[in-house]
Formats: sequence, C-alpha cells, structure tokens
Amino acid sequence: MTAQTHNRVEVMHGVNLDQLERRDPAHYGRLSLRELELQVADHADTLGLKTRFFQSNHEGEFVEHLHRLEGLADGVLLNPGAWTHYSYAIRDALELAALPAVEVHLSDIPGREEWRRKSVLEELCIARVTGKGPAGYREALERLRQELL
Ligand code: DQA
Repeated sequence: MTAQTHNRVEVMHGVNLDQLERRDPAHYGRLSLRELELQVADHADTLGLKTRFFQSNHEGEFVEHLHRLEGLADGVLLNPGAWTHYSYAIRDALELAALPAVEVHLSDIPGREEWRRKSVLEELCIARVTGKGPAGYREALERLRQELL
C-alpha cells in the first residue's frame, strides 16, 4: 500500500473577487483573479501542494462547494470577500467540511471600515493572513503545508 499524501488544497474565492482587476487598486492591487490564481498555483507547486480553484458570487454555490469537498481536498485556502463578515451559512458549511482552513484577505481589513473587522470564520481557521496582497497567499499556503505534510 502506498502512503497517502495530504497535499490537495482547494482555493476558494467569494463574492466580487472575479472582478478583482476592477476594484480599488489601493486595497486590492492590479492583478486579475486569473493572474492571482496562476501565482498561487506556482507557489503551491514549489511547496509540493496541488491546487484546485473555485469562485462564486452565489452564497449557496459556495456553501455547496464546501459540502462537496469530502474526499477531494485536504485543506482549504479561502477568501470569501464580504461574506467573511456575516455569512453564518458559510461558517456552518466550513465547519461541516472539517478541513484545515486558512483565511486570506488581500487588503488590511483590520485597518479599514469597522464592519470589516469581524470575521465569522476566523475561529474555524488555523490561520488568517490579511493585508499582504498576493504574497499573503504564499504565507497561507506555507501554513497549510505545515499542517498537511
Ligand atoms: C477582502 C476584504 C473584504 O472585506 C471585501 O469585502 C472583499 C475582499 C480582501 O481580500 O481584502 O471583497 O476579502
């Protein structure tokens, strides 16, 4: 029997992140989501992690994607966008997925509006990276790698 590798990371982006290149560059930089995903895939590769990517603007689809991860992913890297701050539905689905998860935000959410300071997902995540732009995704992958390999 061969040893099972636990290196499959599901990278999930939520609402409005498909419009990344159109959002305020002061907070989000200038990359498109596709370009960001390519960078993340490259970083993951160098760390020996396999990635799959998902984005939706529909909360129910995001929830159902989390439901379907059983047996398909070993960890989750997620940036749910504004849902981070209020979606108890995504929180419950993340709990159900029962996988090590890292929350990432491109912008410095603790330094922005009051309503962005709260994350309803934070306590389910093994780590949270904010305000480091695309480099934050690398840090998040490294943290997941420590957990998985
Ligand atoms: C974000 C921060 C959220 O507050 C915001 O609603 C987003 C993006 C980030 O990556 O900085 O859509 O998650």
